[in-house]
Amino acid sequence: MNASNYRLQKIKKPLFITLEGTEGSGKSSFLEALKKILKKQKIKCVFTREPGGASVSEKIREIILNEKMNPMTELFLYEAARAEHLHTVILPALQKKHWVICDRFTDSTLSYQGTARGLSRQLIRSLNDVATEGLKPDRTVFLDIDPAKGLKSATQPNRFERESLSFHQKVRKGFLITIKEEPSRFMVMKAKSESPEKMAEIFLEKLSEHLFEKPLLKKKRKQSRS
Ligand code: TYD
Repeated sequence: MNASNYRLQKIKKPLFITLEGTEGSGKSSFLEALKKILKKQKIKCVFTREPGGASVSEKIREIILNEKMNPMTELFLYEAARAEHLHTVILPALQKKHWVICDRFTDSTLSYQGTARGLSRQLIRSLNDVATEGLKPDRTVFLDIDPAKGLKSATQPNRFERESLSFHQKVRKGFLITIKEEPSRFMVMKAKSESPEKMAEIFLEKLSEHLFEKPLLKKKRKQSRS
């Protein structure tokens, strides 16, 4: 596959892409590979992360990852960090027509604080909507790995990585529920099934196909029915 096959420059709308996964799914290497390709393609983009990404949100991140707290407090801190991140980083970048690639976003809250910690997913959906003012990712990549394998790769585990295997199995289950609820937003990839470079290429190829070819196919189908 050749990077020049993508038709990414033709995309008029700046894309908002999020990356999700259970622990140890290789998100960082995937993001590094994606960054290199997009740079080569001269796509202007901002790479950011949650929790964090903005000055205040990074301070909240320190608290969330290091202090033990009540699940509801945790949920509100994630959403507070997100509201700040949205206003200071995500929306300004999209307004400048830059793509935004975010390492974790609202789907992590549904899985970690919802399915795994046991808070209501419905409540979390509402709070996510408030914090993001309804902004949804155009596409979300989910790197799927068996938590029993993924957890082994954490060298300096944070508060979440130190949670039990059953917690992480619930996290994965949470992602799978969301994928079932919104299948068209997600692209599920088997984590570490290929090199990060190859996986980033596959993702961009699918993204390009999704944005350019799907509408054509839909049109054809309509015509043949009438
Ligand atoms: P981080 O070191 O960034 O982990 P990772 O490399 O796995 O992304 O730590 C962020 C942790 O926060 C991670 O364990 C997932 C968790 N998290 C939530 O519990 N809820 C959320 O809404 C988000 C964005 C992250």
